[in-house]
Amino acid sequence: MESQNPSCDHITDATVKTGEEGSENDVCVPIYSSSEVLGKLQEKWKSAKKIPYPAMYSSIFGGITLDPSLMVIPIDDHMVHRGHGIFDTAMIVNGYLYELDTHLDRFLRSASKAKVASPFPRSTLRTILVKLAAASHCKKGSLRYWLSAGPGDFLLSPAGCPTSAFYAVVIDDDFSQCKEGVKAITSTVPMKAPQFATMKNVNYLPNVLSQMEAEEKGAFASIWVDDDGYIAEGPNVNVAFISKSKELLLPKFDKILSGCTARRLLALAPKLVEQGILSSVGTGDITLERAKGSAEAMYVGSGLPILPIIAWDEQPVGEGKVGALTLALSDLLWEDMIAGPETHRLRIPYMIDRRRRSDVARVVARRKRRRSTAAACRCLVVVQEIPGCPTEFPLLPSRNFRYHHAAARRRNSPPLPPPSPEKKCCCAAIPWPCGFCAKIGVLCCRTGQLKKKKKGSNQLGSLGQSVLLLFAMYIHPSDLQYG
Ligand SMILES: Cc1ncc(COP(=O)(O)O)c(C=O)c1O
Repeated sequence: MESQNPSCDHITDATVKTGEEGSENDVCVPIYSSSEVLGKLQEKWKSAKKIPYPAMYSSIFGGITLDPSLMVIPIDDHMVHRGHGIFDTAMIVNGYLYELDTHLDRFLRSASKAKVASPFPRSTLRTILVKLAAASHCKKGSLRYWLSAGPGDFLLSPAGCPTSAFYAVVIDDDFSQCKEGVKAITSTVPMKAPQFATMKNVNYLPNVLSQMEAEEKGAFASIWVDDDGYIAEGPNVNVAFISKSKELLLPKFDKILSGCTARRLLALAPKLVEQGILSSVGTGDITLERAKGSAEAMYVGSGLPILPIIAWDEQPVGEGKVGALTLALSDLLWEDMIAGPETHRLRIPYMIDRRRRSDVARVVARRKRRRSTAAACRCLVVVQEIPGCPTEFPLLPSRNFRYHHAAARRRNSPPLPPPSPEKKCCCAAIPWPCGFCAKIGVLCCRTGQLKKKKKGSNQLGSLGQSVLLLFAMYIHPSDLQYG
């Protein structure tokens, strides 16, 4: 690392100087202490407006760090210098992990093909991933995880690596449904042999070069054609086509990555056949000519989930605009991601970290003190699921709800109906030193918009509304769980 200091004199003993003594090219290479290195690593993030990686797990230290400067991998890890590792990614959508189990199954299949033994059983890997997602507080983004032959030495064989390693990181990303069409090119970069293309290993150099080729030609991404002349996949996406007779067709998965999104698409698309929107759904060998003659074409992958392709090698696909059937498939997958069955979506059990826990403890203590002096001094907020709001609240009104009941009894006012799991209703009391008694409103948990007032509640004055809206801006399901 090059020193930030114009002179290296301050560390003469520990400084390695390269280049000819006294020459202009003298390069100062300081030797830092551990704390200096940590300081340097943290410097980069101090000026960052937003930390894009809220949490990382590493089996090297056996836990989670929230400090992005410590999200590192040992240099003698065989995944780093030999590419002996595999990975996978699951999306985090509105507080849920989408298709985690499907991705985890593919992860372990890749590990087996790459001969990387996991340091933990599947259930432990899964628990770590869920806890990491919870610790990250990320509501939208992705969870990326790796299995590596592990650190040990710089040889080829993993024999000198005492144990394999598991790493995972959460990446904040405010992705949304893709509705605009993009251009594609046919890649001239050779694609990976089926043995390597079917496992999600860390060797993505062909994919990188293929992607760069597309960008150099003004396209969004490329499409590979295999040695037999059949359509394969994109550099990090699958592809799908709709024929003029409304057949949805995807390349077979025998020489390419079995995409979790593409598989889900194949499972859901028959609904559109039932509705008469598509004529059939299937996989097969697709020649370049047939693919280019499609009515509609699209990329399919996690986070897109469907991206319409409107031009290919500078020629329009179909009518050269986003097709209605592509959009129908996109809606189908998007709906599945945000509100599909819980067999495919895992609610993240968000927790509060120690610092937040002590903040909450302080608030609770303050609340207890105030309760004795000014029992009516509370602003009660009722957060309830509003129809059409895509965010579901993992909330249980416990202490606050009981408190409201007690307070209501003291005031002789009718208590709120008990919370019902179907309604996903929740209450939270926030201290409000105004001397007014409870103000009740219903907030949309996503937009923070005050939708309606609870029947029989006090009218909300503008002050009360501001408090509610302010509260909504900072509202966090895990806060409320404890709040
Ligand atoms: C080469 C390749 N093909 C296809 C895909 C799409 O897979 P998925 O839908 O599981 O994201 C990916 C994504 O990681 C990929 O890297």
